[in-house]
Amino acid sequence: ARVVVLVSGGGTNLAALLRAAQDPAWGADVVAVVSDRADAGGLRHAGAAGVPTTVVALADHPDRAAWDVALTDAVTAAAPDLVVLAGFMRLVGPAFLARLGGRVVNTHPALSPSFPGVRAPADALAYGVKITGATVLLVDEGVDTGAVVAQVAVPVLDDDDVESLHERIKAAERPLLVDVVGRMARHGWSVHPDAPRKVLLP
Ligand code: GRF
Repeated sequence: ARVVVLVSGGGTNLAALLRAAQDPAWGADVVAVVSDRADAGGLRHAGAAGVPTTVVALADHPDRAAWDVALTDAVTAAAPDLVVLAGFMRLVGPAFLARLGGRVVNTHPALSPSFPGVRAPADALAYGVKITGATVLLVDEGVDTGAVVAQVAVPVLDDDDVESLHERIKAAERPLLVDVVGRMARHGWSVHPDAPRKVLLP
């Protein structure tokens, strides 16, 4: 299966996917990496693996709608079977979802539907939960509101700060994402006929 990965940051999730893709049995090929930031560290991981990269920055477009169309064009040009938002820190727009919706997943560092948004580890820490985790979601128009594909639980320790908690989450998040992307690539996925929020991985 052809997988396109979108990144905004350091790209450790992307690096884990690229490592997994070295084994053909995993079932997915990372065919392109797209970023909204020219300085995203993830672009270096892609370059080192010989995967083509494209930068589609919001600032290079007159408005969000034009950016949305450009991003959609960059991703669809690679003919993906599956699109993975791996630390992509912007909401995708209506054009993107119209063309690619249903085959886009996001990884989020919390147990959805708890703590949506960009400060999930800090919000979990401030709330005082004792267990948080990571979630792979199907992407819809909301902020981390899509149907849950898979989750992993991670303990919150008494002496955690945001960084230590996020690092523990990321250590569990990377293998979860690699496992889920491989399973989706090899076997596809479906939605329960009577429960549209219930995603089934064979
Ligand atoms: C991950 O925890 C992702 O869920 C969150 O940002 C982090 C990205 O990490 N939205 P990286 O860029 O893959 O290292």
